[in-house]
Amino acid sequence: MMATSDQIRLLLVEDVPQVAQYVRSLLQSQGQIKLVEVLTDGGKAVQQVPEIRPDVVIVDALLQGRVKATQVVSQLREGGHNVPVIMLTVPQQPVEADPAHGVHGVLTMPFSGYDLITRVSEVRKAHAAEDAAGPSKVIAVFAPKGGVGKTTIAFNLGVAASRVGRRTVLVDGSIQFADLRALLRVPSDAPSILDLPTDRIVESDLSEVVWRDPSGVDILLAPPRIEMSEMITARDLEKVLSLLRRLYEVVIIDMSVALDELNLALFDRADVILEIVTYDSTTIHNTIALADTFRVIGYPPTKVQYLLNRADANSGIDPAELARALGRVPEHEVRSEGRVVVPANNQGIPFVLSDPGAGVSQDIDRVVANLLGTGRAAVAAGAR
Ligand SMILES: Nc1ncnc2c1ncn2[C@@H]1O[C@H](COP(=O)(O)OP(=O)(O)O)[C@@H](O)[C@H]1O
Ligand SMILES: [Mg+2]
Repeated sequence: MMATSDQIRLLLVEDVPQVAQYVRSLLQSQGQIKLVEVLTDGGKAVQQVPEIRPDVVIVDALLQGRVKATQVVSQLREGGHNVPVIMLTVPQQPVEADPAHGVHGVLTMPFSGYDLITRVSEVRKAHAAEDAAGPSKVIAVFAPKGGVGKTTIAFNLGVAASRVGRRTVLVDGSIQFADLRALLRVPSDAPSILDLPTDRIVESDLSEVVWRDPSGVDILLAPPRIEMSEMITARDLEKVLSLLRRLYEVVIIDMSVALDELNLALFDRADVILEIVTYDSTTIHNTIALADTFRVIGYPPTKVQYLLNRADANSGIDPAELARALGRVPEHEVRSEGRVVVPANNQGIPFVLSDPGAGVSQDIDRVVANLLGTGRAAVAAGAR
């Protein structure tokens, strides 16, 4: 389920069977690159990438289908899929590598096995180096009051992030009540964070403990029973987080409401504390109190980003009043759309998948783009 080796996962978008067969044969007697899939239809590439999880995509520049090679490249780039592309072409049709426009390398026919392996490895390496410059991001989803949509939003953010190609793990940080376990109706014998050995956690342990939700996102579950939570220490959580950081690009934590030792450890290690607020006087009051606490701890104000949930349901509270109380306009907004959210939650599925076109789903996509700096929305936000 997780990448446990350095093997490069290659996706080939190629509609000429002979060329696909040629590439396959070149890769036959080596272990460095694994050809995980050949797609003959360029139109399917973008949709399939989150499932196939390639490290590198090769696209034939001469694709004959409805969707041309340049469209595949731009769709991958604009979708924020974060996967490097190599164009495969012929001398009569020269292509230039142009990473800024999504073409990270070129292979010109005829090429040898050595050429192929070298090019794929180079492109992968350059991309990984670029990624390391922007290391993985830990987002702690918190609220100083229950029932504001924390679990719902954390779950849907996780699914939306993995849909744009970011390797994402969700952590059920509500260690006592296991909110995600409940929401997703995970069987009680499914492994949890408690199944990790505490003395020495290695990558291979983690892959056995992570729950792969049908929605495609990996989840590290909380223990199935309340009293088991006592067995987890802040030190354990710190170790788990540092491991997750190495394996995933995005770590999203659904936190509990408490301001206890475990949560303080999570706050410390988070890059962003995404605090859910609603138009509700208790929430606003507690949010102000919490901002004070964060100031005392010494967190910079930029570490906290506010997400106004059910933003269109202001129940008489003036948006300006909210902004005054928070000291700023919330960075993110998600509308209220019970018609979409409630049935999805009742079935334990993410609304971003059950109804991707809904306003509330698009709000979540926008939050992801702004948080992770992907896709068009982030570009638009940056231009503002
Ligand atoms: N944007 C929204 N629109 C409509 N209903 C929502 C929205 N966000 C959350 N809800 C509903 O609010 C309730 C509480 O959400 P939940 O995620 O369990 O909150 P928390 O984790 O903060 O306790 C759920 O019934 C959920 O369906
Ligand atoms: Mg919850």
